[in-house]
Amino acid sequence: MPLLESNSIDVFFADPPFNLQKNYGAQVNDGLGDAEYIEWCYRWIDEGIRLLKPGGAFYLYNLPKWNVHLSSYLAQRLTFRHWIAVDIKFSLPIQGRLYPSHYSLLYFIKGTKPNTFNPPRLPLETCRHCGGEIKDYGGYKSKMNPRGVNLSDVWTDIPPVRHSKYKTRRANELGLKMMDRVLDISSREDDIVFDPFGGSGTTYVAAELKGRRWLGVEVSTCQDIVQRFSTIRYDGDHLAGIRKKLNVLFTEEALEIRRKKGHDNGKYRLNEYEVSEEENVQLRLMLERGRQYLCECEVSLPESRPVQSQQ
Ligand SMILES: C[S@@+](CC[C@H](N)C(=O)[O-])C[C@H]1O[C@@H](n2cnc3c(N)ncnc32)[C@H](O)[C@@H]1O
Repeated sequence: MPLLESNSIDVFFADPPFNLQKNYGAQVNDGLGDAEYIEWCYRWIDEGIRLLKPGGAFYLYNLPKWNVHLSSYLAQRLTFRHWIAVDIKFSLPIQGRLYPSHYSLLYFIKGTKPNTFNPPRLPLETCRHCGGEIKDYGGYKSKMNPRGVNLSDVWTDIPPVRHSKYKTRRANELGLKMMDRVLDISSREDDIVFDPFGGSGTTYVAAELKGRRWLGVEVSTCQDIVQRFSTIRYDGDHLAGIRKKLNVLFTEEALEIRRKKGHDNGKYRLNEYEVSEEENVQLRLMLERGRQYLCECEVSLPESRPVQSQQ
């Protein structure tokens, strides 16, 4: 990081080890004393702030236990935007404590005005079985934005990563859905995204698929990241599926169930909005980027066999 230019990054995203004594390889000590861990975080946070452009976004994903300290450090240097609670059940119940069920995603910006703030809108929550609205919107249905509801600072729709296709990847991989959302909110095409804790490369994959430039660091092996890029087509397909469910009031699946179950959509102004050509182009580009990268990887990484064996 010290080699990188100051004020050069549009989005800084960090998902560091949580100091939970996990094994990240010989270079990483994930069992520091509390004060030592926090001091270590301060050091890379300082560097991250230096790299960030004015108006750039700084995200830090961690346990509330650590982010309570780190957010107060950040608040003295950057402008606080949000503490986002990402609702994921992440451990066994702890005796004498409330059941921990959210991670904290801190969002700050350098200076006072974000260069980009473009949160996606989400579909209404509906019952998977009957298609009915989970919340009662009463008489407000006709006033609802046909592009979906405002994104809040509590994210309950980020599923834990399940490794059906990627059994070999190490644990602690973030969901592509979360990274897609972060990059939607705070970046545009060609912006530069930096993640100092590469892991399995979720940030880089999301950035690549979305047409952002990216830079990163991984102190342990980068093999997982290389491997992941060699099968980025699967992430591309996955992300395209995720994006079909954004900026609409009802997903296609929900509309289908609602039709079958005879729900009245008349009050919602659904026909006032259609997916724009621009959005279709973006979706197509994303799929193409995944496929194009796959071809390049096949040339430069002849050992990436899973690509061939899974086709
Ligand atoms: C929680 S994981 C990140 C997972 C990643 N966000 C993903 O979705 O795959 C943290 C990563 O940081 C790496 N790491 C730990 N200390 C590091 C350091 N000082 N510099 C760079 N990477 C480090 C670990 O090896 C581990 O892969």
